Amino acid sequence: MRSHWTNRWMFMMATAGSAVGLGNIWKFPYMTGTNGGSAFVLVYLLCVAMIGLPLMMTEIMLGRRAQRNPVAGMAWLAAESGGSAWWKTLGFMGIATGVLILSFYSVVAGWVLEYGSRAVQGGFIGLTVEQAKHQFADFVSNPLALLFWHSLFIVMTVVVVARGVTSGLERANKIMMPTLAAMLLILFGYSLAIGDMSQSLTFMFSADFSKITPSAVLAAMGHAFFTLSLGMGAVMAYGSYLQRHVSIARASFYVVLADTAIALIAGMTIFAIVFANQMEPAAGPGLLFQTLPVAFGQMPGGTLFATVFFVLVCFAAWTSSISLVEPAVSWLNENLSMPRTRATAVVGGVAWLLGVVALLSFNEWSDVTLFGLGAFDVLDKLTTNILLPLGGLLMAVFAIWVMRETHVQEELGLNNRHYRNWRWVTRYIVPTAITLVFLNLMGWLPFV
Ligand code: PHE
Repeated sequence: MRSHWTNRWMFMMATAGSAVGLGNIWKFPYMTGTNGGSAFVLVYLLCVAMIGLPLMMTEIMLGRRAQRNPVAGMAWLAAESGGSAWWKTLGFMGIATGVLILSFYSVVAGWVLEYGSRAVQGGFIGLTVEQAKHQFADFVSNPLALLFWHSLFIVMTVVVVARGVTSGLERANKIMMPTLAAMLLILFGYSLAIGDMSQSLTFMFSADFSKITPSAVLAAMGHAFFTLSLGMGAVMAYGSYLQRHVSIARASFYVVLADTAIALIAGMTIFAIVFANQMEPAAGPGLLFQTLPVAFGQMPGGTLFATVFFVLVCFAAWTSSISLVEPAVSWLNENLSMPRTRATAVVGGVAWLLGVVALLSFNEWSDVTLFGLGAFDVLDKLTTNILLPLGGLLMAVFAIWVMRETHVQEELGLNNRHYRNWRWVTRYIVPTAITLVFLNLMGWLPFV
């Protein structure tokens, strides 16, 4: 017997836990900053609603119908509808994507741990912009420091996943997700009281269509996949532990809503703090580690709130990282009969090793590049802009053209009108949008 979530809330909490992560609190704010603010937010919201929500339903549907890990699941689903056994390749692609994401994700999560420990010690008090820049540059140029925190984060991930679905994944999410929500609301209140919320809101929401560039569209679409954990089988694996009677549409809606709300609230909070201290929103990936600490260091209660902030980010990253390895672990465990503990250690070990390459690209190997990008950026761009959208595209194709329609309908359990809508969007909008963005990426469309 495979384990299942205790109830639908646990499933939603775990899936929201997977979705809400560094993508929401680190990537989304800095990408909004570097892609011109409101225009990026608008395109991102459109992608979440038009591509993210229907694909969330599709991926959960595939997982729950199969009741197997993504590799065995795709093979089983294909067999059920008389499709090719090759579809299991999609499961393997997901496994690889998850490990690739974890490798660089864990490096950034490591930065969060380091900055959390600086925050507790009052390390941001009186920090100037120059000092913050130097400290961050010093930190990332020190491979041993990066290695230490990266290794710690991998161990944290492995420890949870090794314990299995109910006492590992479910318990971790049950504790961390409500805490995370509470901490975010406290910080939001703090930024309302002390930050510059009106400038923050203008920056994020006053639509300026002139700023919508093709590269911002690509970034926004890739990010919609990344932030919702779509296209690599994490959601499929979680869906495979879901009981039959739960409504997939409702669960998907709440997960997407929670993920979006948390990204927007985190963005508003961070920019309100950044603007209150006359700082730059477009600082890039260093926004959280160079800009924000300076702001915290100048504000009343900064040490306490900075600590709360970095604990929050750590929880968000942790509940996501465990979902990144679940497809691989459940495959090793179920198909190759490897004990779960060993399977988790193996997968964590591979991600750790790749992560070492990623972290060395900030220092020792900074001149080793591919297409002008270092290892860290290659891993990020390859997964976010290519592998996740490709995985999502193939899942949509599978659900529409390979699976028997009666099976899909039965599993989704939607009324007729909603089912037609889902089918139409999944059949036309999702593949077209992803393909257009890909063609543009390859330079075959004149938008770049
Ligand atoms: N959704 C996570 C985040 O926003 C990252 C992630 C991507 C997790 C893909 C699982 C699968 O940080």
